[in-house]
Amino acid sequence: MKKTLVILAHPNLNTSRMNKAWKDRLLQEDTVTVHDLYTKYPDGQIDVAFEQRLLLKHERVVFQFPLYWYSSPSLLKEWQDAVLSYGWAYGSEGTKLHGKEFMLAISTGGPEVAYQAGGFNLFSMSELTKPFQAMANLTGMRFLPTFTTYGVRTLTDDEVNKSAEDLLQHIKNA
Ligand SMILES: Cc1cc2nc3c(=O)[nH]c(=O)nc-3n(C[C@H](O)[C@H](O)[C@H](O)COP(=O)(O)O)c2cc1C
Repeated sequence: MKKTLVILAHPNLNTSRMNKAWKDRLLQEDTVTVHDLYTKYPDGQIDVAFEQRLLLKHERVVFQFPLYWYSSPSLLKEWQDAVLSYGWAYGSEGTKLHGKEFMLAISTGGPEVAYQAGGFNLFSMSELTKPFQAMANLTGMRFLPTFTTYGVRTLTDDEVNKSAEDLLQHIKNA
């Protein structure tokens, strides 16, 4: 399996079911590094040099998060703004991420049926994640299919555990 960096952004893993289960499962894999942003940066001050070094050590990058207001929790946006700098991640000299692969792993409160035209949330996950797709494009990373688990509140414990196994397979087989 390609060396994979999972950048996890969940502001309160103590109350999490899905992202906590994903984290615990992925931590068991040698080829996966789970990097928990809210634990590493409780003050929100991102160490850009550390983050850039970490990215260079991996071939595949995953953003893992619960959907908050149709996007990611805010520290992941802060991470993008700080780490993906001009001349490093984009611009004529900014080629450090070229050739890597990029993927999203997202949990939602809303059910899958809500995420489509005519549904409660109007838009599909492919539509809502366009800024991440554009980010991958600009930084020269290949955007791989997104892994989404919908309607987390109503899942049984078995379904939560199965989702964690499915995420691992998705990351391995993408
Ligand atoms: C601030 C906030 C915003 C949220 N926004 C959305 C949303 O836009 N769409 C949605 O389906 N669920 C939304 N949710 C629900 C979370 O996505 C859901 O609780 C989470 O994915 C469950 O994962 P967890 O068990 O790891 O916390 C929101 C929750 C919070 C706290």
